[in-house]
Amino acid sequence: MTASKSIAIICASKYGFTLLCSLAIFKKLADVGVYVSLNNLAEETPDLNKYDTVILGGPIHNGKFFRPLNKFIQNNVEQLLTKQLAVFITCIDEERVEDYYKSALPEAVYLNTFYKTCLGGMLQFNKLHPIEKR
Ligand SMILES: Cc1cc2nc3c(=O)[nH]c(=O)nc-3n(C[C@H](O)[C@H](O)[C@H](O)COP(=O)(O)O)c2cc1C
Repeated sequence: MTASKSIAIICASKYGFTLLCSLAIFKKLADVGVYVSLNNLAEETPDLNKYDTVILGGPIHNGKFFRPLNKFIQNNVEQLLTKQLAVFITCIDEERVEDYYKSALPEAVYLNTFYKTCLGGMLQFNKLHPIEKR
């Protein structure tokens, strides 16, 4: 696969679990020779022009994507609609996964997504901010 036909994993992670999931996906794809880049929104804002397939991954916070990923999606809806799009979420309430896909993604992006999955979640209670423990 050439750089013009490459995959971007674009993730945000507050406490590290989603980043671990993203690294695992990155490694699986890289190991089979796929040209893939891992973009952590805490460190960089990727240029979507470089990719034709995008995997968005983030934790669910109060029914939405964790803010940096939510903001990235809102700012790039038009471009995301031109990509092959897959999404993974991490969350602890797996019974609400179907609702979360819809509440985390703008409708057009949701409809343009060819694959969605939930990779479970990890809540490290001792790391949470006091406000998050309520
Ligand atoms: C502030 C906050 C809000 C959360 N809200 C939800 C929620 O609405 N539904 C849910 O299933 N999990 C919720 N979670 C759990 C996270 O989605 C889960 O712990 C995720 O795996 C954390 O990923 P991270 O380690 O990459 O930050 C919340 C966690 C935090 C810290």
